Amino acid sequence: MYVQRGDIVFICGRNRESLEHAVHAIDPEGTRLFGIQADISDAPSCERVVAEIANAQGRLDILINNAGMAMRGTVLETSFEVMDAMVRINMLGSAYMTRSALPLLIASRGSVIFVSSLAALHGLPRIALYAASKGALTAFSQSLRAEVAPAGVHVGIVHVGFTENDPDKVVYAANGSLVPLAGRRNSQTQQETAKAIIRSVDRRKNVVVLTPSGKLAAFAYRGFPRLADWMICTFAAKSRQYAENGN
Ligand SMILES: NC(=O)c1ccc[n+]([C@@H]2O[C@H](COP(=O)([O-])OP(=O)(O)OC[C@H]3O[C@@H](n4cnc5c(N)ncnc54)[C@H](OP(=O)(O)O)[C@@H]3O)[C@@H](O)[C@H]2O)c1
Repeated sequence: MYVQRGDIVFICGRNRESLEHAVHAIDPEGTRLFGIQADISDAPSCERVVAEIANAQGRLDILINNAGMAMRGTVLETSFEVMDAMVRINMLGSAYMTRSALPLLIASRGSVIFVSSLAALHGLPRIALYAASKGALTAFSQSLRAEVAPAGVHVGIVHVGFTENDPDKVVYAANGSLVPLAGRRNSQTQQETAKAIIRSVDRRKNVVVLTPSGKLAAFAYRGFPRLADWMICTFAAKSRQYAENGN
């Protein structure tokens, strides 16, 4: 959508083929969208990504920390490797990218967005490390906002609800293998979620919760925390949804 608006956009991911596919699908002429292959769980790679953008454009207005991986498995089942991966990709990856991009964002008085989850509002069964890694982004974004607001930088966090997935999406199983995502109940299309994220940047929103059920859950967690806790323990823990969906 930023490309359609005429902006220059850089996307990053570990898989070169997927990057090339996305660039070709969205910007076949290759004049506005550019892919940079990088693993954001590696801090020097994040610095390289930002250096490439700085060299090419000399500025950066918006950083969207979207990269993330989901998991499934109870705490007892989850291997230490999966625990590490959740924190390194979902939390540290966003922190490394943000730290690397901050000088450019301060210069442009730009925006940084963290793509989080409803699972960050209240931990849910069978995705504890995912929920914890996204929950950490809440505190990180709050600290960062207090630090950079005087410099005019906008810091936003978007709690995404169930969104349609690419058919080839994989998540970490408890033992560390990557497995396809089983059946899903979708409540938003990818376009709807992307539009909501862009709107949050345009309006410089601090915290946004997406989907009607997400908004209802956020209200319940705030207003009726013990009831919400009881419902999650009683119903969600028994539901196959969290076992199968992974975020
Ligand atoms: N879909 C949902 O229902 C939902 C709900 C709540 C929150 N979210 C959040 O929304 C974001 C996108 O989710 P999605 O459903 O689109 O997931 P996805 O289909 O699994 O896509 C994840 C993206 O992140 C990239 N990525 C993963 N690890 C990376 C790493 N270490 N370095 C660089 N890139 C990496 C992947 O590219 P490579 O594999 O090529 O690296 C891929 O492009 C995530 O942060 C997720 O937690 C999604």
